[in-house]
Amino acid sequence: MPARSFITTAIDYTNGAPHIGHAYEKVLADVVARYRRLRGDDVFFLTGVDQHGQKVQQSAEKQGVAPEQFVVDITAQFVALWKKLHVEYDGWAATTEPLHKTCVQRILQRLWEEKKIYKDKQGGYYSVRQEQFLTDKERGPDGEFGPEWGQVEFREQENYYFKLAEHKEWLLHLIDSRAALVYPDFRRGELRNAVEKLAGDLCISRPKSRLEWGIELPFDADFVTYVWFDALVNYISFAPGGYDARSGSHHPEFQRWWPATIVIGKDILIPAHGIYWMIMLHALGFSDADMPRLVVHGWWNISGAKMSKSLGNVVDPNVLADTYGAAALRYYLMSDIATGKDSDFSEERLLGRYNADLANSIGNLLNRSLSMSQRYRGGVLRRAAGESPLRGQAQAAVSAYREQLDTFQVQAALTAVTDFVTACNTYVEMTAPWKLAKDPERADALDHVLYALAESLRIIAILLSPVLPNATRGIFAQLNSAGAMTLAAAEWGGLPDGHTVGKPVPLFPRIEAPPTE
Ligand code: MSP
Repeated sequence: MPARSFITTAIDYTNGAPHIGHAYEKVLADVVARYRRLRGDDVFFLTGVDQHGQKVQQSAEKQGVAPEQFVVDITAQFVALWKKLHVEYDGWAATTEPLHKTCVQRILQRLWEEKKIYKDKQGGYYSVRQEQFLTDKERGPDGEFGPEWGQVEFREQENYYFKLAEHKEWLLHLIDSRAALVYPDFRRGELRNAVEKLAGDLCISRPKSRLEWGIELPFDADFVTYVWFDALVNYISFAPGGYDARSGSHHPEFQRWWPATIVIGKDILIPAHGIYWMIMLHALGFSDADMPRLVVHGWWNISGAKMSKSLGNVVDPNVLADTYGAAALRYYLMSDIATGKDSDFSEERLLGRYNADLANSIGNLLNRSLSMSQRYRGGVLRRAAGESPLRGQAQAAVSAYREQLDTFQVQAALTAVTDFVTACNTYVEMTAPWKLAKDPERADALDHVLYALAESLRIIAILLSPVLPNATRGIFAQLNSAGAMTLAAAEWGGLPDGHTVGKPVPLFPRIEAPPTE
């Protein structure tokens, strides 16, 4: 029976247009999902949008539109971008969907009845001007709240709290006993340190007088739930089969897919996913074996600085895809960052990588291999006797690729492939088929080379297919290969003796740098 992979990502806030960070995470998860399919898993890939909360309400207010309308418009921008970038998902989690709201409310109701949620009065500093409670983060270096907050007063407020702290020991034990809980491992260490400091419970309600745009508490209509308590639930409310929040028992379809592998950025590991979400699931009765796995990626910065609207350095993935194409953007996002680490975004590097790896290296190999087969053999391949030196290199590339992608390291997996492409191009130079073609005595040697090149290209196309799904279908079409696009088929010898390859068509035309002003 094939393995099952349930891959999900963070759901994106619909408080503004998608940016390059969103695009990176979605392409990363799409590549992981496609890779799992390639290796033979049954895959369900879920992603979506986080539509409630203060940020959305504020952005909608600024534009003078109702939040309902605002999220529809922004959601459409995300959906259109995923289509443009060939991100293909099986499920779409939009948190304003009735199915999701019902699930969140049933969970709240159950936790309330089980006394895992309680009401309490707590005091805090409140900014009258900004209509919000302030925390120590808002204090200036002098320990005071700055003038931007206007009049600040101490206020008491009733709210609902979810019991977090009582799960601390359990969570520490889970983190220690399951190395695969968080990837990469150094993030697991960070999470552990944060859990050590866990003291209080989590306020999960917001009075409607402050925030209306959320899911109402089923047991108190004066409150909506805190946006994270709503958003995190998407991973189970939209899971295949759906989650039975009322009984809490896992029906067979849900259990077949759960637990999920959740791809998130480093900013939302602590406390949201690593603490709140794990404890929410535990409180709902999920077993330790049913805790999800968190794959934590790093951030794209701009010249070392955080990307932000206020700095005006936000990179729009739509513009990049329109200028350079989806393949160039996907390839750049997957090849210029190591999963878990940060990287600096650079349009110049995007262009450089495209031209070097795709246009020059792979494009050139495809073009020269097919044109030589056409020119010297009318496109017909012969499997001459004898081992090709490329065979061993192909096998080594496949196993390095596998090993890297099994641990989410797309960049290193791509390096294994591009190194193999370089080896193939070197092989062309060394064997000089144009010289072999002049010597009738060396006809077998020429067949040998031409077969090895076509066969290598077939394997390269399979390996690149998660990152470049369309272009690699193009390589298969030019090779005229009817073979399977599966990792199992990336074994040497897939093209039969006598196979006829097609004519080369440039797949990755060189792109000149856009003129600078
Ligand atoms: N809505 C929450 C997530 C809820 S999950 C139940 C959220 N949304 S977000 O739109 O702010 O971020 C969505 C994802 O994009 C997060 O995983 C975040 O880490 C990622 N990124 C946002 N900016 C990024 C970069 N500059 N670089 C890489 N990823 C970044 O958080």
